[in-house]
Amino acid sequence: MPGVIVVYLSTSGNTKAMADAIVEGAISRNVDAKAVNFNEAKMEDIKVADAIAIGSSTFNYRMLPPMEKFLQNLEKANVKGKVGAAFGSYGWSGEAPVLIAEKMRELGMKVLDPVLRIQYQPAEKDLEECKRLGKDIAVKVKKIPEKHGKSTSIEDAGVQEVKMGEGGH
Ligand SMILES: Cc1cc2nc3c(=O)[nH]c(=O)nc-3n(C[C@H](O)[C@H](O)[C@H](O)COP(=O)(O)O)c2cc1C
Repeated sequence: MPGVIVVYLSTSGNTKAMADAIVEGAISRNVDAKAVNFNEAKMEDIKVADAIAIGSSTFNYRMLPPMEKFLQNLEKANVKGKVGAAFGSYGWSGEAPVLIAEKMRELGMKVLDPVLRIQYQPAEKDLEECKRLGKDIAVKVKKIPEKHGKSTSIEDAGVQEVKMGEGGH
């Protein structure tokens, strides 16, 4: 089954709530997904993932240095060609997800546009948007040439369903 890893840095839980909703969305489309704090993320998990979603809140117009370091380390994981998505909670300027997406593109990842930013604590409708992103990621990973064997007809039906609504945000 294709796999999505969602890595986040969140100081007060806002970006974490987004990460959990993205996972929920991906799982609802029959794709394996899990959210991990950046300091618990294992390079082996990243190497085998088909898609990597990375989230950080914005501090002083950028992401916090430990997340910058994490992104530097991604170079070693050979993420070229993998699906990428960037997200994060913010207060007023929200640069971090944009910077994450830039870095992902530099590494050769296929990054979903636009990045997903939510101001402060995500409300129910914001979490729905996060779930939508998770579903969109699931659709994209299912289009990656097979390396996990065949997909089931139920999964294919799920892909069709999402395709029709794709581009909704
Ligand atoms: C010291 C400090 C600096 C911040 N700097 C920025 C900033 O430059 N731009 C911005 O959009 N938000 C900024 N914020 C707001 C946070 O990004 C926002 O509170 C966010 O919801 C935190 O999410 P988290 O719980 O996932 O870390 C700042 C917050 C604090 C406490």
